[in-house]
Amino acid sequence: MTKYTACKAEEIKNGDMKAFTFNKKSIVVVRSKNGELYALRNVCPHKGPALSLGSVDATCTATEPGEYTLEKEGEVLKCPWHSWEFDIKTGCSLFDPENVKVKTYDVTVEDDTIFVHM
Ligand code: FES
Repeated sequence: MTKYTACKAEEIKNGDMKAFTFNKKSIVVVRSKNGELYALRNVCPHKGPALSLGSVDATCTATEPGEYTLEKEGEVLKCPWHSWEFDIKTGCSLFDPENVKVKTYDVTVEDDTIFVHM
């Protein structure tokens, strides 16, 4: 496993993300609304755009018509093309978590610098 330097910790604010290329792979580092950091492969498994062009958002559920509930606020990475949603903690899609997912990587912060391990 190799440790790659991403950026200074303050460069990614809560609810924001930033893309990097490590070893020819595009990676997106996402900071949740609560400040936790996650790294995912920056490629949507549907048609391939960079997930970093999408948004860090919530998901919306409904128990009946007209009743909406926002869940996982700041913990969902939404694809820019067709809005598939991925849990930033696991890389699993919200609609088919067993079969549709993006790879995740470990992230550490040392001396205010973010590192991705892959
Ligand atoms: S390309 Fe990402 S949801 Fe379709």
